[in-house]
Amino acid sequence: MAFHIFSLLFYAFAALYLNVSAVELAWNGHTTLESVTPSPFLPYYVPPGAKSYDSASPLVKYSGKWTERFSTAYIGKSLRDTVQDGASISFTFSGTGIEWFGNCQPCHGVADVYIDGQLIQTVDTYGDTKLKQQRIFWSFGLECQRHTIKIIKRPGPDCPVSLDALVVTLCVAPQLSPASSPTTPLLLSEVDPAEKWTLEQIGSTGVSAMQLAIISPTLALIIDKVEHNPLTIGGHPAWAALYDLDTHAVTPLSMLSNSFCAGGSFLGNGTLVNVGGNPVVDDNTSAADFGDLNGLQSVRLFKPDSSADKCEMYENPDRIRMASPRWYNTVIRISDGSAMILGGSKKGGWMNNATVNNPTVEYFPPKSIQGSNGLPIPLPFLDDTLNSNLFPIAFALPDGTIFIAANNNATIYDWKANTERRLPPIPNGVRVTYPMTGCGIMLPLSPANNYEPQILICGGSAIDDTKPGYEISSQDPASAQCSRITLTDAGIAAGWEVDEMPVPRIMPDMVLLPTGDVLIVNGGKSGISGYGNVIDQVGASNADKPALTPVLYTPSAPLGQRFSSYGMPTSEIPRLYHSVATLTPNGSVMIAGSNPNLDRSEVEYGTEYRVEWLSPPYMTKPRPRIVHGSSQLDFGQTMVFTVQLPPGPVDLSAVTVVLMDFGFITHAVHANCRFVYLEVTISANGTQLTLTGPPNGEVYPPGPGWLFFVVGGIPSTAHHLMIGDGKGPEVDEAALKNVLENTNPDQYEESKSTGEDE
Ligand SMILES: *[C@@H]1O[C@H](CO)[C@@H](O)[C@H](O)[C@H]1NC(C)=O
Ligand SMILES: *[C@@H]1O[C@H](CO)[C@@H](O)[C@H](O)[C@H]1NC(C)=O
Ligand SMILES: *[C@@H]1O[C@H](CO)[C@@H](O)[C@H](O)[C@H]1NC(C)=O
Ligand SMILES: *[C@@H]1O[C@H](CO)[C@@H](O)[C@H](O)[C@H]1NC(C)=O
Ligand SMILES: *[C@@H]1O[C@H](CO)[C@@H](O)[C@H](O)[C@H]1NC(C)=O
Ligand SMILES: *[C@@H]1O[C@H](CO)[C@@H](O)[C@H](O)[C@H]1NC(C)=O
Repeated sequence: MAFHIFSLLFYAFAALYLNVSAVELAWNGHTTLESVTPSPFLPYYVPPGAKSYDSASPLVKYSGKWTERFSTAYIGKSLRDTVQDGASISFTFSGTGIEWFGNCQPCHGVADVYIDGQLIQTVDTYGDTKLKQQRIFWSFGLECQRHTIKIIKRPGPDCPVSLDALVVTLCVAPQLSPASSPTTPLLLSEVDPAEKWTLEQIGSTGVSAMQLAIISPTLALIIDKVEHNPLTIGGHPAWAALYDLDTHAVTPLSMLSNSFCAGGSFLGNGTLVNVGGNPVVDDNTSAADFGDLNGLQSVRLFKPDSSADKCEMYENPDRIRMASPRWYNTVIRISDGSAMILGGSKKGGWMNNATVNNPTVEYFPPKSIQGSNGLPIPLPFLDDTLNSNLFPIAFALPDGTIFIAANNNATIYDWKANTERRLPPIPNGVRVTYPMTGCGIMLPLSPANNYEPQILICGGSAIDDTKPGYEISSQDPASAQCSRITLTDAGIAAGWEVDEMPVPRIMPDMVLLPTGDVLIVNGGKSGISGYGNVIDQVGASNADKPALTPVLYTPSAPLGQRFSSYGMPTSEIPRLYHSVATLTPNGSVMIAGSNPNLDRSEVEYGTEYRVEWLSPPYMTKPRPRIVHGSSQLDFGQTMVFTVQLPPGPVDLSAVTVVLMDFGFITHAVHANCRFVYLEVTISANGTQLTLTGPPNGEVYPPGPGWLFFVVGGIPSTAHHLMIGDGKGPEVDEAALKNVLENTNPDQYEESKSTGEDE
């Protein structure tokens, strides 16, 4: 403790009076520069841009009976506490955040915390043992102005509520390093206004946006890992939230287990599954008791609702779980509306290896196929592609088979026959899956060419994946390569076509637009995914040189002419590891996240909560509308939708209707993202659109989708509907029973004690 106090005083001094921004300090288990070992939690570290006020400060007003106590273990050597019901503290500050530090102990008082007269949280100061210098409450993202925090002890047994110090986050924007500022000034004034894209920064996600899915016309689901997010729920930081696309409000969502780093998919009945994760956070992070369960085998079920308050994440590991532990697994919906769960590691770590690899697939709900009776089915491709093969890129193909890319290889997996057809390797040794993360997308499918599938994979790294972290640098260049293949016999024989993005990207996000173009955003120009593993880390980031200007890829343009950043704004926000991007129902692109850190951090590259909205030029033009249409469309079913054309002349022979799945996005995996043109005719007066559902669940796996009516390259906003009959995937009770009888909810923990794992 003595050491901590010394460090604390030094750090506070350094940060406040010397403005030593170069001091890379630890807090909340953050890994320091040049270290790969997470540092112990320093309970009280005042980062640059924050200011600490001791309990003895004259600015802190007490009312009721408070007792001053002295110890070298207290911040400023003193603390005040009260056991009197209704005793209170009031403190007025100018800033954007406030943190309250004090004691936690078994005999614990409870207090209501108000900011500007509004009850924010009821805080319980419970601790297993007496712990000093604990962060008891915090709130960030306030308006930059004067605020008053009031802490009032609630009636209860004679147990104390204490104040050791208050820390204010000052209204100073964090300094960006030269590496993250735009390198080429944009001459937006020279851009044709009709071709201008706009980028706005509105809203804050409250939890770090590691996983993202649009769940309704107005809500996005955001899932993070267990960490010290500003948004709280149940007295601890939240690690999931619902983001309102209209109002930009966030509602915390309760989760039982640690969802770091899970995958997800909607099922055929519209329920979303989120599977896998990590064991409990076992560093002593703070007063907050997260209360998380081991998420390695978790299956979390989420039924979307249009009201954020009604959404719940259901977990019950005794009743619903995976048959094996998975961290960094990919989840996709297949032709029967069930979820295929691919690969992952049996425990959290970094680069995959043979010891921790889980080279299998399993399904939710479990299936009795290949004699597995619900248990994992070996997939040799996931053995043969070690090491850099986590979060495989996978798409359900229109013939019902599955495309999978991992490391620098690819295969087509026929899950019904349990056979593989290996594809030519990705050219030039470019690796495309974690931690050499590229991004893959299936290009638009069209009845015009009988749904011929094409896969596009961009970015990644050609670094040797057998090298240890200390031989890899955050400054090693990423790959600019885009590789594209047509998955027909002729296309496979022709192999991958190679193209180059204007700048290299590790961890890019690719977003299909309703125009059929592919937007590429996010990522870094050097390094690899993850944090705390390589040399020359920036903060803890394994990657550097954020790629800040989006680029548009036009699949139909000739090779060599497909990329353009014309009219594109440049962002100021680095989006590296744990960033996401998705199309939203109004046609704009939501960009969020970035957190190359063990826990929330303000050291560059810090945890990013700001959301950006990238609007293609069509957003400001008169748009066609879907006025009315069914909320369900079955395979091959023909229906009439009422639409409205934009003003002006229209070529009625060129209108299209696009069915899209916006996917479940995490770690540059855009699982289930899909774009299918529907067969359509329009009445001569332009108001009645007759459209036919996709032919079967192989072309579009049954489940939720979004329809865009596109006229002259300008899409309507999206119409949300269910494709298929909306009934769930078939449940094989025998397989489910077998999984429950033959697996345990916590196999990783058990294998540790038998030594089987290492
Ligand atoms: C589109 O949606 C985003 C998120 O709601 C919003 O920020 C933006 O203003 C919307 N744009 C238009 C043109 O409606
Ligand atoms: C966590 O706390 C326990 C009990 O207070 C202590 O024994 C242990 O050393 C702490 N671990 C770390 C990493 O600080
Ligand atoms: C395999 O990976 C795990 C998890 O990152 C790590 O703990 C272990 O040391 C690795 N084993 C080998 C042989 O590299
Ligand atoms: C992966 O690609 C390499 C060539 O880059 C090839 O030698 C190897 O056999 C391929 N492995 C698999 C699993 O396809
Ligand atoms: C447009 O044409 C359709 C089909 O011919 C017809 O049913 C509908 O009433 C017409 N609407 C208007 C506004 O004329
Ligand atoms: C959808 O199907 C899954 C898998 O059988 C099931 O767990 C879930 O409860 C279903 N959702 C609804 C809304 O029925």
